[in-house]
Amino acid sequence: MVIIIAGAQWGDEGKGKVIDLLAARADMIVRPQGGANAGHTVVTEDGEFKFQLLPSGILYPHVTCVIGHGVVADPRVLIREIDQLRERGLEPHNLVISERAHMVMGYHPVFDQLEEGVRGDDRLGTTRRGIGPAYSDKIRRIGFRIGDLQKEAFMRKKLDFVVGQVKNPILTDLYRDQTFGWEEMLAEYRQYAQRLDPYIKDIYPLVHNALDRRDNILLEGAQATMLDLDLGTYPYVTSSNTTAGGALTGSGIPPTKIDLTMVVCKAYTTRVGYGPFPTELVDSTGDLIRERGGEFGTVTGRARRVGWFDGPVARYAVRVNGAESMALTKLDVLDELPELRLCTQYEFRGNLHDHPMANISHLKHCEPRYITMPGWRQPIGDCRSWEELPANCQAYVEQLEEVAGVSIDLIGVGPRRDQFVMRNRRFFE
Ligand code: GDP
Ligand code: IMO
Ligand code: MG
Repeated sequence: MVIIIAGAQWGDEGKGKVIDLLAARADMIVRPQGGANAGHTVVTEDGEFKFQLLPSGILYPHVTCVIGHGVVADPRVLIREIDQLRERGLEPHNLVISERAHMVMGYHPVFDQLEEGVRGDDRLGTTRRGIGPAYSDKIRRIGFRIGDLQKEAFMRKKLDFVVGQVKNPILTDLYRDQTFGWEEMLAEYRQYAQRLDPYIKDIYPLVHNALDRRDNILLEGAQATMLDLDLGTYPYVTSSNTTAGGALTGSGIPPTKIDLTMVVCKAYTTRVGYGPFPTELVDSTGDLIRERGGEFGTVTGRARRVGWFDGPVARYAVRVNGAESMALTKLDVLDELPELRLCTQYEFRGNLHDHPMANISHLKHCEPRYITMPGWRQPIGDCRSWEELPANCQAYVEQLEEVAGVSIDLIGVGPRRDQFVMRNRRFFE
C-alpha cells in the first residue's frame, strides 16, 4: 500500500507524528520535497526528536528511509542530524539519499538572507535556509546534485564556473557582499562526500522493487498545501510543490501506484512567516491557543500566527490533494475554550467564496463567515476511542468533516506517540 501524507494548511500540522504512527507498519518512507525549512517532531519514550531532512521513520530500524530527489538537502544539516542521532545511540543504517537530490550550497542561505533584505517590508519571512535559491538554481540548471559529491573532477569544474562566473559577480556587483572561493568549497565538499558516501544511491531500483513487492510505503510531505508553489498563497509560499503531485515527482512513484492520500490538519490554524491568513486571531484567545499548542517554530523558534479553523482552506486541501482521509491533530489544545468558531466561507465585496481566492489581496481583505460551537472544557489527552471523546468534541469533529468534505480517521489528542484516536479506517492491513 502506498500512502501520501500532505499538510493541509500552512505547515506544522503534525505530519511528523502521523508518519511516526504509521511507520510502525511501514517498509519504506520517502521524503519527496522540501529541505531543512521543514521541522517534523516525533515524541517517543526516549524524548523529543526534531527532523529537518531525515524522514520521520528513521527511529524504526526496519524502515528504509529515503531522501527523495525532489528534496534540496544541505549536507551540513544532514551530517549534523546524523551526528545528533548517533549521540543518542542511534545509527541511521536505514538511511538512503537519492543521487538526484539537489544540494543547498553554502551560498544559498546567503542569497536567501540578501534577497529577503532587499524586499524590505515585502519580505516573505522565509526560514533563510536557502530553499528558494537552491530550487531556483535547480530550475536554471546550475544546481549541484548529491551524486556530484562522488565526482570530484566534475565538482571542481562546476564550482569554478558557478561560483566564479555566476554567484560571485552577483555578490560583489549587486549586493557588495562577501564572495566564495571555489577551492575552499571543493575542500569542504570533499569532507561532506566522505561522510555521506555510504548513504548515496540511485533510488529508482530501491523504490520500484518495493512497489513490485507491494511493500507499505509512506510519502512524507513537507510544508503544506497553502505553501505550495502553484496552489498556495503565492508569493508567500515555499519553492516546491508540497501537494500530492510533488510527492510523485519527488519520489518517482507514478500516480497509478497511490492507494490513499491523507491530509494532516490542525483543529485550528497556524502560519509562520508573512502572507494572508483570513482567520487569524490577534487577541487573547490567539495567545491562549499559541501557549497551549506550543506554537513556536521548530526550525526558527518564531512565534507562529494562530487562528480559527479555516474550512475553505481545509476543503481546498482535500480536493487538490485528492485526499480521502484526514488526520486531525492538536484537538486537545482547544480543551479549555468555552466556545469555538469555525470559518465556513469568506465574504469579499458582497460575494461569498468557499475556497481561498487566487488573488491574495482579496484573501487578505476578505471577511470570514463563522459558525460558533460550544467547547467541551475538559481534558481529552487520555481519550483513546471515539466514544470516550466528550459529546461537544465529537460534534466539533463531525462539523469539520462536513465542512472539509472528508473522513477524519485519526485524531491527535496530545504530542506523545500513544496520544491519538483511530477512527473508521485501518491503515496498512
Ligand atoms: P510537522 O512539521 O507537520 O511535522 O509539525 P511540527 O512538528 O512542526 O509541529 C507540530 C507540533 O505539535 C509538535 O511539537 C508535535 O509534537 C505537536 N503535536 C503533534 N500532534 C499533536 C497533538 O495531537 N496534540 C498536541 N498537543 N501536540 C501535538
Ligand atoms: P513543515 O514541514 C511551516 C514557510 C516559511 C515562509 C515560507 C517560505 O515543518 O510543516 P522557505 O524557507 O521555505 O523559503 O519559506 O514557508 N515554511 C514553513 N512553515 N512549516 C514548514 O515546514 C515550513 N517550511 C517553510 O515560514 O513563510
Ligand atoms: Mg514543522
